[in-house]
Amino acid sequence: MTTTTTTLTHFSIRMDRHTAVVTMDLQGEAMNTLGPRLIDDFETVLTRLETDPDIRAVVITSAKRDFLVGADIRFLDQLTTTSAAEEAIKTTHELFARLERIRTRLGKPVVAAIDGNALGGGLELALACSMRIATDSPRTQLGQPETQLGVIPAGGGTQRLPKVIGIANALDMILAGKNVRVKKAKALGLVDEIVPTEMLTEIAVDRARKAVGSVDGKSPGLDLSPSGLQKAALETNPIGRSILFKQARQKLLTQTKGNYPAPERALEAIRIGVEEGPDAGYAAEARFFGELVVSPESAALRSIFFGQRSVDHETWVDAEPIDVKRVAMIGGGLMGGGISAVSALKAGAQVRIKEVDHAGVGRALAYVRNVVDTGVKRRHMRPFEGEKVMLAVSGSVDWTGFADTDLVIEAVFESLDLKRSIIAEVEAVTGDRTVFASNTSSLPITSIAEGASRPEAILGMHYFSPVEKMPLLEVIVTEQTADWALATAVAFGKRQGKTVIVVNDGPGFYTSRVLGPYGVEAFHLLAEGATVEAIDAAIEQWGMPVGPMRLADEVGLDVQAKIGRIMIDAFGDRMAAPDGIAGLEASGRKGRKNGRGFYSYDAGGERGGVDETVYADLGLGPRHEFDAQEIQERITLAFVNEAARCLEEGVLRSARDGDIGAVFGLGFPPFRGGPFFWVDQVGAAEIVARLDRLRDTHGSRFEAAQILRTHAESGEPFRS
Ligand SMILES: NC(=O)c1ccc[n+]([C@@H]2O[C@H](COP(=O)([O-])OP(=O)(O)OC[C@H]3O[C@@H](n4cnc5c(N)ncnc54)[C@H](O)[C@@H]3O)[C@@H](O)[C@H]2O)c1
Repeated sequence: MTTTTTTLTHFSIRMDRHTAVVTMDLQGEAMNTLGPRLIDDFETVLTRLETDPDIRAVVITSAKRDFLVGADIRFLDQLTTTSAAEEAIKTTHELFARLERIRTRLGKPVVAAIDGNALGGGLELALACSMRIATDSPRTQLGQPETQLGVIPAGGGTQRLPKVIGIANALDMILAGKNVRVKKAKALGLVDEIVPTEMLTEIAVDRARKAVGSVDGKSPGLDLSPSGLQKAALETNPIGRSILFKQARQKLLTQTKGNYPAPERALEAIRIGVEEGPDAGYAAEARFFGELVVSPESAALRSIFFGQRSVDHETWVDAEPIDVKRVAMIGGGLMGGGISAVSALKAGAQVRIKEVDHAGVGRALAYVRNVVDTGVKRRHMRPFEGEKVMLAVSGSVDWTGFADTDLVIEAVFESLDLKRSIIAEVEAVTGDRTVFASNTSSLPITSIAEGASRPEAILGMHYFSPVEKMPLLEVIVTEQTADWALATAVAFGKRQGKTVIVVNDGPGFYTSRVLGPYGVEAFHLLAEGATVEAIDAAIEQWGMPVGPMRLADEVGLDVQAKIGRIMIDAFGDRMAAPDGIAGLEASGRKGRKNGRGFYSYDAGGERGGVDETVYADLGLGPRHEFDAQEIQERITLAFVNEAARCLEEGVLRSARDGDIGAVFGLGFPPFRGGPFFWVDQVGAAEIVARLDRLRDTHGSRFEAAQILRTHAESGEPFRS
């Protein structure tokens, strides 16, 4: 058997018994991405595949640990006009059409041999092939994540994916932009065969050779389950299809509230392809992509993508972190349970939980067990791995087992005295190089560290609930915090799977502080006569995941009042709720936790409608209609203005951190890119003008931050 190899810059072609094994290997990069360099070489490869009579079948594979991860996202920034983008897409369409014709017209089967990620353009390339064979590696995933960046799959994804896996499944994958693992991909008919990694190329060559001479063009895999048959019946007749598209659109609009144009356009491109044929479908795909790539929503989503990447690569401080092996968790409630779970499960540390009594220890262990069991059920880990995690977590009601602790994280009640007394106890049982982190949500770390004998080892690690799901960790440093302590907290946060931002100390740091004026403004509106529903609906329409009244119920009205007092002490009136609302605490309403808040809750804790008695309880007058835009402007500008103050005062080190913190910690609408990106998009001068109008009507709490005025005058953006 003879094999010959031809090498181009980014591809090699190896002949194996009339089968060309084409390997992608983008030089100088860790991953294969689809950009001008790869495309140039790919055209040469296609010419060879088309014209070489010795080639009867083709396998396409990769020399990297991923197959092909999609378009080079930096390249999207260069597409500054709709027409340039449309042209670029037409080139990609022609490229994949040529690949498709090799099998359909020339009768040479083409097999995509996939190990690692095949995403975006990577999956689209594979969809143009006759067959997809993927490895059983946990790293292997397939997906069309383009809508997450505010664009649509535009290498034929909206046209070929429905043909391979059916319309409903393709809508699911493309509209949500979520990747699928290989088993799911096989069940969908997206992958034809799953094989061990070591045998991928060998099996792919074998399947390609065997397919020579067979009829090409596959129909979707037939799903014989009742729901599968129902789907197939819906998709094959025009009335069924129109119902399917209508339902998908309705569901989408409920989720996005019309704020995300990309999935809507993707749905339309799929519909056009199905109803009007491929020419119209591909043309729509190119046109919509051209529109979307220059849209503000896509610019915002891409800025978050790059912002997160740069935050994740940030070192923050030039010091060696301690390699944390043993963590002590003081307080195993809602937050302590979650922090223990990610410390053992994701960071691989030994965790010792201290609680006030055995029941507390039991509750904390049950929390970790629940997270582990969910992970096993979702197949993120095997049962024995789950048991290993449980063995790494133990509990205690005294200080036994706390020597040799590298990192202590405290999540007891929000009380300054309690937190200080815990530091004193911890310092007595741990060594000089033990980092102490408080998960306080509002108390300044400097005050917590007052009286400590090792203040250099103290900092804040502020997590978000539920800890195992929320991606952000806000690390807070005081003027005394040592670099080694900061480096340790950042490194450990990353091991826990968190995106970490580092901020300087102050009451409420960044994330809790910006929520202060935001919640207070909602209370002002309530006192002026707006309904709870109107406030929440307007803010959710603006893009926040939950409105401020619902958020208050979730956080706990008692907790919010406590934080409120700390904020008023530090920042004065702009953090103070109007008079009637101050009686909220005395009314005994605590929100979801005691089933009485702005909303009512049933015995099972399920949220019902607004509790209409709340207005009378607070001595508030009759309700009247409020313009949604006024509600949105007042509440969101209060938030953004406070974020700007955090930057001005150096709590935030950069506008980038402010955007990432708000989006990942507080659910600030991703399509607006974060508070600073949004100010840039609207224009700082316009934001200041709006704040000035609000100040003239409602008072000094709307006085614009000086940094906003400076940017308004200079025209300099916050995010370059
Ligand atoms: N709940 C949130 O969304 C959230 C978010 C970020 C930060 N925080 C902060 O995290 C901390 C804990 O909040 P939580 O929601 O987990 O409260 P929680 O009431 O659920 O848990 C507190 C736990 O601390 C235990 N505890 C009290 N005193 C103790 C002591 N001396 N030694 C050991 N354990 C003790 C309690 O038994 C309880 O289990 C607070 O400072 C809070 O402000 C909360």
